[in-house]
Amino acid sequence: MTTRTRILTGITTTGTPHLGNYAGAIRPAILASEDANADSFYFLADYHALIKCDDPQRIQRSRMEIAATWLAGGLDVNRVTFYRQSDIPEIPELTWLLTCVAAKGLLNRAHAYKASVDKNVENGEDPDAGISMGLYSYPVLMAADILMFNAHKVPVGRDQIQHVEMARDIGQRFNHLFGNGKEFFTMPEALIEESVATLPGLDGRKMSKSYDNTIPLFTSAKDMKDAISRIVTDSRAPGEAKDPDNSHLFTLYQAFATKAQEAQFRGELLEGLGWGEAKNRLFQLLDGQLGEARERYHQLMSRPSDMEDQLQVGAKKARAVAAPFLAELREAVGLRSFVNQAAAPVATKKKAAKAARFVSFREADGSFRFRLLAADGEQLLLSRNFTDGKAAGAVTKQLQRGDALDVRAEALGFSVWLDGAAVADSAEYADQASRDAAIEALRAALAPIED
Ligand code: TRP
Repeated sequence: MTTRTRILTGITTTGTPHLGNYAGAIRPAILASEDANADSFYFLADYHALIKCDDPQRIQRSRMEIAATWLAGGLDVNRVTFYRQSDIPEIPELTWLLTCVAAKGLLNRAHAYKASVDKNVENGEDPDAGISMGLYSYPVLMAADILMFNAHKVPVGRDQIQHVEMARDIGQRFNHLFGNGKEFFTMPEALIEESVATLPGLDGRKMSKSYDNTIPLFTSAKDMKDAISRIVTDSRAPGEAKDPDNSHLFTLYQAFATKAQEAQFRGELLEGLGWGEAKNRLFQLLDGQLGEARERYHQLMSRPSDMEDQLQVGAKKARAVAAPFLAELREAVGLRSFVNQAAAPVATKKKAAKAARFVSFREADGSFRFRLLAADGEQLLLSRNFTDGKAAGAVTKQLQRGDALDVRAEALGFSVWLDGAAVADSAEYADQASRDAAIEALRAALAPIED
C-alpha cells in the first residue's frame, strides 16, 4: 500500500481574496485536492493573521470571506481536511515544544523579521521598534502547522520557501534530541508551482493588494466589470491591430480561457478589436466561469453558521490526527503521567544504566579491585585482583564501553571475561533463576547509555 501524499497549506486571514489569489493559489489547490493520491490539509492561518493585524473586525471578516471563497470555489470538505488554525489547540502547544528547540540564531535570519529590522535601522529607529514576538516567532508557528500533520508537500509562494526550510530545520532538531532513533516528524518540502499563473493587475504589475491594482473575485459582477474597465491598455484605436503578447489584458484572458478561446481572441485583437470590446470579452469570460461560484459565495456569507458547522467538522478531523500525535511528543520530551512511571522501559533502562556504579578499593596486600553496584546498591560484580590501579581502571573503562559482554555462568554464579581472562565474578546465588536474573541486571547496567 502506498501512503498518499499529504499536502498542506495555510492562508493568512487578513484580506479579501482577489482574482490573482484565485488563479495563483486557490484554484490550483482545489484542483490538487481532487487527485486520488492527495491527502490535503487546507487551513485558515488566523493565528498568523494576528501577527499582522490588530483589527478584530477585519480578522473576522477575512476569515469568513476566505472560508466562503474556498468553499464556493468547489473545495470538497469530505475529501480534504479544511479547518481554522485557531480551532486546533494542539498547534500552539506544539509551537511551544518547537520554540524550545529552535535556535534563536535561525530565527534571526528570517527574511520577514530582518526586513523589519532593516527598515527600522534605515529610519534611524531602534532596530526592534514595533517588532512583536509574534513576528519574530512566526516561522516556529508555521513549523508547527506543517509538522503537526507530517506534511510532505507545502504549496507556497516564493517568499515562504525559507519558512518551510526552517520547519525542516526545527523538526530535524527535535527528531535528533527526542526521537531516540525515531523520526517523529516528516521533512516537508516547499512546492512551487511553476506553471501557475501570476496574474498581472490593472496596471500590468503583479496583481496585489499592496499595489491597489486588483480585480475583485466574488464581491459583485458590477465591481468586477468596473475593475476591468480600468485595465490599462495602449492607445491604439478600434480597427488598429493590437499586440496580444504585450497586453496584460490578453494575459488575464489567457489565464481563464481554453486554447481555442485564446486563439480566437488573439486573432480578433490582431484584426483590430477595440479595447472597449476586448474588456467586454474578458468580463464575459470571467463572469461565465465565476458567476455560479459568486452565487454560492453570497449564499455562504449570508449563512455563516453553515460554514461554522463545516469548519467544526474540519477541526474534529484535524484534531483526531493532532491530539494523539501531540500526546506522543509530550511523552518524548518528558511531560508524562506519574502513573506507572517505573514501568516505562526507556526510563528504567536509563536509570539503571546511570545509577550503576563502579567502586574501586585496595586490598591489604596492595592489590587493586573494584565492585560494580546496581542502582539499588546490590553488588553485581567483584573484580579479581590487579597489581596496579591502571590495569583495574582500564578494565572498568572497557566494561562501560557497551561492547557485547562475555558472561560465563558456572553453577550458581558467573564471571565476566575480557580478552580471554576472567576479570570479575558474581556472588553465589540461591538458584539458577536468581543467577540468570542477576546476569540480566548486569547486562542492563552496562548497556550503552544513550545520552
Ligand atoms: N505564512 C503563510 C503565508 O503568509 C501562511 C501559512 C501559515 C502557511 N502557516 C502555513 C503556509 C503552513 C503553508 C504552510 O502565505
